[in-house]
Amino acid sequence: MTFRAYIIIASDSSYQGTRADGSGPEAERLLTEAGYEVTGRIVLPDDRRMLADKMKQVADEGLADLIVTSGGTGFSPRDVTPEATEDVMERAVPGIPEAIRADSMRYTPRAMLSRGTAGIRKRTLIVNLPGSPKAVRETLTFLLEPLGHGLAILTGLTSDCARKENSDGT
Ligand code: MTE
Repeated sequence: MTFRAYIIIASDSSYQGTRADGSGPEAERLLTEAGYEVTGRIVLPDDRRMLADKMKQVADEGLADLIVTSGGTGFSPRDVTPEATEDVMERAVPGIPEAIRADSMRYTPRAMLSRGTAGIRKRTLIVNLPGSPKAVRETLTFLLEPLGHGLAILTGLTSDCARKENSDGT
C-alpha cells in the first residue's frame, strides 16, 4: 500500500522568495524514498488562516493520508503552525510531538523549543516538524516506521496492532 503525503512549508522568507526552501525538497526526498506518493508541496507564509485552510482542504478533499508541515513551530510571534493545526484537527495525537522532541534532544537541547503538534482530521494525519532540512531529516527518518502503522489503521487497512517482529503477540 502506498500512502499519499502532502508537504506544507511555513516560511515567510521562502514564500517571499528571499530564502530558498530546502525543507520541502528534503521532506519530499525522504517520503518518496520511504515509498510515499507525494501528492503536493506548497510554501505558505506564517499565516494561521492560510495554513489552516490548506490543511483543511487537503484533509477534506482526501488529497493525502499524511500532511507533513515544516516550520513555524518556534517562539517567534509569527510562528503559528501549531495553532493552525489545532484549528483544524479533530483528534489530537500527543504521542507524536512528544516522541519527536524526546528523540530530537540527542541532536540539540533546543529541540524542546519546538511547539509542534499532531492531530487527525477525517482520514488525514497532520504532523508538524521544525523548519530546517536538518530537522526534517532527523525527525522524519525516525517517524516513518511507526507512522506507517498509524496510517494503516487510520485509513482502514488494518486494525491489527501486532508488530511484524512479534507475530506471536508478545
Ligand atoms: N529538532 C531537531 N530534530 N533538530 C533541530 O535542529 N531545531 C530546534 C527545534 N527542534 C531542531 C529541532 C530549534 S533551534 C527551534 S527554534 C525549534 O525547533 C523551532 O523551529 P521552527 O520555528 O523552525 O519550527
